[in-house]
Amino acid sequence: MTPSLEPTTTTPTPVVLDVDTGVDDALALMFAVRSPDVDVRAISCVAGNADVDQVVANTFAVLDALDAPAIPVGRGAERPLVEPARDARHIHGADAMGDQGLPDSSREPADGGAIDVMRRAILESPEPVTLVPLAPMTNVALLLRAYPEVRDNLAGIVLMGGAVDGGNATAVAEFNVWHDPEAAAIVLAAGVPVTMYGLDVFTQVVVEAKTYEVLRGDPDPAVALAGRLLAHSHDVIRADPRVGHGGLIGDAGAACVVARPDLVTVRRWPVHVELAPGRSRGQTVVDRRYVLGEDAVHGVESLGHLVDVAVEIDAARASDLFLTTICAGPGASQVDDTARAVQR
Ligand code: BDR
Ligand code: CA
Repeated sequence: MTPSLEPTTTTPTPVVLDVDTGVDDALALMFAVRSPDVDVRAISCVAGNADVDQVVANTFAVLDALDAPAIPVGRGAERPLVEPARDARHIHGADAMGDQGLPDSSREPADGGAIDVMRRAILESPEPVTLVPLAPMTNVALLLRAYPEVRDNLAGIVLMGGAVDGGNATAVAEFNVWHDPEAAAIVLAAGVPVTMYGLDVFTQVVVEAKTYEVLRGDPDPAVALAGRLLAHSHDVIRADPRVGHGGLIGDAGAACVVARPDLVTVRRWPVHVELAPGRSRGQTVVDRRYVLGEDAVHGVESLGHLVDVAVEIDAARASDLFLTTICAGPGASQVDDTARAVQR
């Protein structure tokens, strides 16, 4: 049975994805490439979960599994703006793809590198582009600093990063912001509308074991790969009681929000990235007050930049949208409504 997608009423949203592939970036790439609501114009790679060359190799491996058309992929920053790179291989595996020994790809990175790939994709688009950073925001900050004119053709930025409450890289900082806080601060200050898909919603969308086990056996290589990645994710986060029972779709949730913005409830709050050295570096300080505090009244601190912060997500619908979309590829997935029904 061919899975049916939610009806599409709009033309696909043109996007540029910035990734540090990465188990969950891989799931986001799968969703974005296969979604009829998303048009992936370019992909930029950055050091984060792994070094940038591994990120490029992983990105190509995912595009091969998807049998994706030629999408420009740019190799970007090797390290954050200020600090050294610090990978997350203890979470994502030595290859940052759950140690699956994926085959090498014959795809080649685009000439000119990530910043140029992003710049061209944005400026050459007849319609405004949505920028989707799913990684430390080094590339995006460099782009905005080097070519501020891209802002005029950006519909907005939907980023995975930060949190209202708590962290993962540190007690209070989420990995993508913590890895390059200066870059995140530049992005929030750029004057482009930002939607922040932070840990508060990131941790909510899972695929249950009984479903990802079905995916693993699928003849479509991309669907089978998604099953293995979700199993890896589940193994790593099983001990965290804040996370639902299953493999996290992670960054793919932010891509789902590009396709279906109504999946999340957002609140427009000032957000500040903490840059001071110490335990709070990289924290997104989200100001949820309704009444001005003494800091503002006495001009001690400026307010942060207004950001649409995702505070709730329809996790069941997001998970279903993710599964339906990745299973609707040309590879004739065997995953039908029965497999997805197990999930509900
Ligand atoms: C983010 O950091 C990475 O580990 C994931 O790919 C995701 O983008 C979560 O903090
Ligand atoms: Ca990522």
